[in-house]
Amino acid sequence: MSQNFSEFHATVEAADDRSINPTGEPSLDRLVDRGRRNLLKGGLGAAAFGFLAGGASIARAARPDALMGFTGVPTQHAVDFDQVIVPPGYRAQPFFSWGDAVLADAPDWHPDASDDWQAQLKQAGDNHDGMHFFPFPDDPNGHGLLVINHEYVNPTLHPDGMTIVDGKRPLDEVRKEQAAHGLSIIEVKKDGDGHWQRVLPSRYNRRLSAMTPMRISGPLAGHAQMKTAGDPSGLEVLGTLNNCSSGFTPWGTYLICEENWHNYFVNRDAEDYARRVSHKRYGLATEGPSKLYAWETVDPRFDATPDDEQPHGGYVNEPHRFGWVVEVDPFDPDSQPVKRTAFGRYCRECSVLSLGDDGRMAIYSGDDTKGEYIYKFVPAGRFDDENLAANRDLLDEGTLYVARFDGGGKGQWLALVHGQDGLTVENGFASQAEVLLNARAAADQLGATPMDRPEWVAIHPTTREVYVTLTNNDGRGTKQPVNIANRRPNNLHGHILRWNEANGDPTATTFDWEIFLLAGEQPGARDTTGKPVPVNLIGTIDGDIFSSPDGLAFDRDGRLWIETDYDDTEAPMQAMGCNQLLCADPRTREVKRFLVGPRGCEVTGITWSPDYRAMWVNIQHPELSYPASDGKTRARSTTVLVTKEDGGVIGT
Ligand code: FEO
Ligand code: CA
Ligand code: CA
Repeated sequence: MSQNFSEFHATVEAADDRSINPTGEPSLDRLVDRGRRNLLKGGLGAAAFGFLAGGASIARAARPDALMGFTGVPTQHAVDFDQVIVPPGYRAQPFFSWGDAVLADAPDWHPDASDDWQAQLKQAGDNHDGMHFFPFPDDPNGHGLLVINHEYVNPTLHPDGMTIVDGKRPLDEVRKEQAAHGLSIIEVKKDGDGHWQRVLPSRYNRRLSAMTPMRISGPLAGHAQMKTAGDPSGLEVLGTLNNCSSGFTPWGTYLICEENWHNYFVNRDAEDYARRVSHKRYGLATEGPSKLYAWETVDPRFDATPDDEQPHGGYVNEPHRFGWVVEVDPFDPDSQPVKRTAFGRYCRECSVLSLGDDGRMAIYSGDDTKGEYIYKFVPAGRFDDENLAANRDLLDEGTLYVARFDGGGKGQWLALVHGQDGLTVENGFASQAEVLLNARAAADQLGATPMDRPEWVAIHPTTREVYVTLTNNDGRGTKQPVNIANRRPNNLHGHILRWNEANGDPTATTFDWEIFLLAGEQPGARDTTGKPVPVNLIGTIDGDIFSSPDGLAFDRDGRLWIETDYDDTEAPMQAMGCNQLLCADPRTREVKRFLVGPRGCEVTGITWSPDYRAMWVNIQHPELSYPASDGKTRARSTTVLVTKEDGGVIGT
């Protein structure tokens, strides 16, 4: 199993987007309705303002002030493009790369990747993804903690790629791969010249990995379905896997999201697999090696085949201990991360919090697989801004909802509550804990709307309007019928959808929605058979075309930042050039390209200092030699710092 980069990357992409939802979306009749006509008739301005009219004053401006003052950058098509480019007047500099020191005694990174797993535990992990800047109160714009997810690992982690010997992975390789997963927390500070630097040593600097002990809390804590031979208590799990995007809370904690965890496990017992919804509905492998790294060949924790000789069936329940939100307190380096099971278990891309006027809140997540769902978790309690410690266990109790998009631009949040709407013992849900454990199956039962791979969610800073990227779905129209919210067959380029909760209340159970933007199709474009592509685009601008929106975030002023993730070597995405960071005005749907990354990368992760004069963006799995960009040094996933040369706010 010695794989080169592109073979490996193809594996990861394929693993990311398989469809395993057995339910069809029956409501084709929803396609032809008032909502569709409304959405299509408006074009740019009118529909946007009409939709936002119930929101804050931003929507009512007759002539919106220009939000985006920069000059857009062009697409980059060269096969050897190996840089990050930003508009004139801006700087982009590598800030934190795979192998950089996190702990003070970390060895220097070696370009031949010869560092061992103990070294890797002290250095930045691989595949930087979601991230957030947490300011120190006494100097918020000059001092903070940068928290960065390490989603998965590339074969370049090892001098000779990933190897397998006599059917087994070498343990040292596996340990290094586990060490390069997880999270980095690094202290960052402006120096006397106003330049941001990483602080070392720092009492805050910390690495979490796929081996770090974490506490299980909420309804599944100590549950029989969480017990394993290694943890008979069902209360402590080792590590976090496939940490994709993330979230943060107003009480100062970070929310890690476990996305494609199912690819790390195998259950070879076909009979058991067929009846075990908690494995089958999540697409675990049914024969070895497991889909990504074959860790199970040397680490029994990843072999989920039931073993009746061992307590609790061996590790059959280990996959139940992933797919959650993990809450981390970056300011307390001694704190143990906590897996919050009240959120439900699925392949979670993000956890983005919207805070209501009364302290009640919703936390939104996408399940990024073809035909999966959008969820929100509403904690039972309220945020207490006067006693931050009182919020510590807010995320252990609440209601999980899943979205159904109806005609007429209306939508409904369906509660996943045991005993209601068919979530009963007769239908295979023994308790509320098992509804949460098998959230996908519960959402199937409720008739949620299968989406085109929901990735990030972003909340408008003043209107609380919610935006979600639906990155793409080439199975739409075949594996999943088109539906009102995912109406483009063979949706190669994806779209962005937005909604307003009833009365602007994050906890509401109804909402109004519309498509914000269909990515990727230009007027005059032809499909692969040469037929004209219907011009159903809303909002894409000819010069700023892009595909597969993934990362999504608002800044303080209401600019919507969009990050892309497509295979930049394959038609038709190739036409968009290398992956990009774009900026959109939600009022006008104007889109401008702000940054282009090196060949083969995904642009992901975005955060700012509170004054929005420093922006950090992640360049994940560049293919050539970035950040050295010398044509020979091993490429490294890298956090890039973007600043404006005049010290101004990014995007102005
Ligand atoms: Fe890790 Fe769905 O992106
Ligand atoms: Ca993503
Ligand atoms: Ca993606």
